[in-house]
Amino acid sequence: MIRQQGRFFHLCDGAISYILEILDDGTPGHVYFGAAMADLELEDLEYMARRCGKSTGTVKAIAGTSFSLADQMLEYPVYGTTSFLEPALAMEQEGMPLYLRLAYTGFEIRDGKEKSMPGPQTRPDPKAQSLILHLADRDAQVEVDLSYTIYMQGATVVRSAKITNLANCPRNLTHAASGVLNVRDTGWNWIHLNGSWARERQIVEQALVPGTAVIESLTGASSHQCNPWNALVKSPDSPASCQGDNNLAYGCNLVYSSNFKAQADINEFGLLRVMEGIHPLTFGWTLQPLASFQTPEMLLFCSIEGLDGLSRVSSRFLRDHLINPNFVYKRRPVCLNSWEAVYFTLNEQNLLELAREAAKCGIDCFVVDDGWFGHRDLDNSSLGDWYPDQKKFPSGLDAFARQIRSLGMQFGLWFEPEMISEDSELYGKHPQWAVKPPAGQYSVGRSQLVLDFSCPEVVEYIFRQMCQVIESTKLSYIKWDMNRSITEAYSQYLAQEKEGQKEFFYRYIYGVYALYEKLTEAYPDVLIEGCAAGGGRFDPGILYYSPQIWTSDNTDAFDRLKIQYATSLAYPLSTLSNHISQFPSHQTGRTFTSEFQKDVALFGIFGYELNLIEDHRFSPADLTGQIGQYRQMEPAILHGDFYHLASPFASNEPAVALYWDGKRPQSAPKTASNSHQVLSKQEQAFVGFYQTLSSLHSIYRPALPLPFLADGQYLIQPLQAQSSMQLHLDLEEENPGKQTSDSQSARNMEPEVIRGQLLRHDGLRKPVKNNGSNRNVAQFIGDFQAMIIELKKIG
Ligand code: DGJ
Repeated sequence: MIRQQGRFFHLCDGAISYILEILDDGTPGHVYFGAAMADLELEDLEYMARRCGKSTGTVKAIAGTSFSLADQMLEYPVYGTTSFLEPALAMEQEGMPLYLRLAYTGFEIRDGKEKSMPGPQTRPDPKAQSLILHLADRDAQVEVDLSYTIYMQGATVVRSAKITNLANCPRNLTHAASGVLNVRDTGWNWIHLNGSWARERQIVEQALVPGTAVIESLTGASSHQCNPWNALVKSPDSPASCQGDNNLAYGCNLVYSSNFKAQADINEFGLLRVMEGIHPLTFGWTLQPLASFQTPEMLLFCSIEGLDGLSRVSSRFLRDHLINPNFVYKRRPVCLNSWEAVYFTLNEQNLLELAREAAKCGIDCFVVDDGWFGHRDLDNSSLGDWYPDQKKFPSGLDAFARQIRSLGMQFGLWFEPEMISEDSELYGKHPQWAVKPPAGQYSVGRSQLVLDFSCPEVVEYIFRQMCQVIESTKLSYIKWDMNRSITEAYSQYLAQEKEGQKEFFYRYIYGVYALYEKLTEAYPDVLIEGCAAGGGRFDPGILYYSPQIWTSDNTDAFDRLKIQYATSLAYPLSTLSNHISQFPSHQTGRTFTSEFQKDVALFGIFGYELNLIEDHRFSPADLTGQIGQYRQMEPAILHGDFYHLASPFASNEPAVALYWDGKRPQSAPKTASNSHQVLSKQEQAFVGFYQTLSSLHSIYRPALPLPFLADGQYLIQPLQAQSSMQLHLDLEEENPGKQTSDSQSARNMEPEVIRGQLLRHDGLRKPVKNNGSNRNVAQFIGDFQAMIIELKKIG
């Protein structure tokens, strides 16, 4: 519900309240963002807006008064005013700054959320409500609309700004952030996700002090290095943490997949704000007379259950209101991807052998990764030539795809649509389509250049090529990769069109979104998995189209524990694509038990990246069993809540839990393919225990409290899959004495029934042996041990 009360606007979604006010000079100011407070009266709002004046010594915005913007919490700061923090908005005319005085002129409250611009954005919903604040500087002939959308119980405010040039000459936008999150006290830590290729999203927590802290990407993607998600949590030793709201946490994210900047500033008055949006360093936009520019959406999350609660707020929100609804709650195919199995040495014959093995194991989708097109025998050619290599597929890729389907599997292919190799037919025909400077040297990454997706003709050309392959092979799945960062960002197309080169990065990513839009419209049932050299573009913009993203090229299960743990702070488990891969790990050379690899990969969308012919660790029954376990967990992965119980960044004994009340989805579309997920109606939890390094001296905590459980009785047993157990028994009859790894661990622990109250407060016993022995508990012995325990409410 959104209400205007005097100069205040109160947005309340049932979970949170967000309150703003119109300040003395007409600038929108911030009042409150936190737990919902329904039915506030005008005098309550006046009370909340009351604060100690601190403007002595500042420049005054209104002559003859003490009013300055310097000590205010501003909703959308503008360049050149009495607020000296970096502005959200700055504009120029003929190289001269425009000193805008944007003042409130009116508002609209709109029921429902409509698609308001091209590209990714939170989804239409008749139950959402939006507040549009109209601001204008009549003298400068500029209008700005600030929009705030809330979704019922979403605990999230969706912000964006639309800037319109009303003058009869062009203006240049140099800064157009999406929004600001204001917090009125200090003592906060900023958490963000930092990394590199194969080490994506490591948790960084920094104490904020007066000044500015920045996370940003300039690579042309949201990047391996920084993720647009960030969060504020109370610092445990700050004086502010004694103020009774220790568990208040805020989060921000941006529905954008290119260069971004998020900065946390604390000014001289101790006011903290996080501003986020398109990176101004690589942005500039010409606003022609009467033209508007609308920023991507910024998501502002709030939780009163700390960082872990915040992760559930943002996960639910993204699932319910942003991620591709065709797939978000849908059973996902378990894929076998050929990359680590054969890399570039693929041919029809070895792939078919692999596929036959895969079919025996119950794998749903066979994915041919890189190397199937042009003459690509290595990573130095053929990008842009999206037609099958006849040497590798002499009977044709369509015939090959038919054979895959006749084995009962779907067919999937890898594409890297945004790239061009110099050694390609496309480059021979259209060298001007490559992004590179008109003269001089240019950089090459993985022997490839970037295609100029700011040019609609290029996007259309690649779309047509992809359509041909999708249709001839009846494709079910695409892995959309993007393997290099963008350097020397010069577009011949923009030069020809007399558009500024500073528009390139924005136009490029909207070209990417345009291709996604065309593909998802033309082939709504083709699942597109996002990927950028692993997880280099893991953000809400991509998730709008791709319901899952390849989390990292690093499939070493020990490293993955950290990468997945941190990624799931920001994104739902159902977006993390995790595969069991080659042994020893191709990235680190480390060895693991297959159990450990599986129990790490199972918390996400499960699959394989494995040479099943050469890898003798698994029998088909093992794989069928693992897939059965995934299917048992899948409804909880798609609908449940994830709990980060012990961090792999801090402990040798990390633990996570997935809880599903058996009733969600409230909002999932009811289609036949979703129906299996509402069968259970039974409360369920899966707890993942890990022992990365065995240590006699580890700080032994024998039990793990499970705060999400209710009273009543829970049946506790190691994760098993009906079908796989049956299969094990069948196999044992044929082959007595042969035990699979799954059945071994299952025997280590007898099922038992324990009261929820006890598990909630005292905790579930951990399967760890430190010194001595544990009764009726599977024991971890050695490094890299794992176990998933299933809990079912039985009364
Ligand atoms: C990078 C991806 O992240 C890998 O999974 C694989 O698809 C390769 N590219 C193929 O070139």
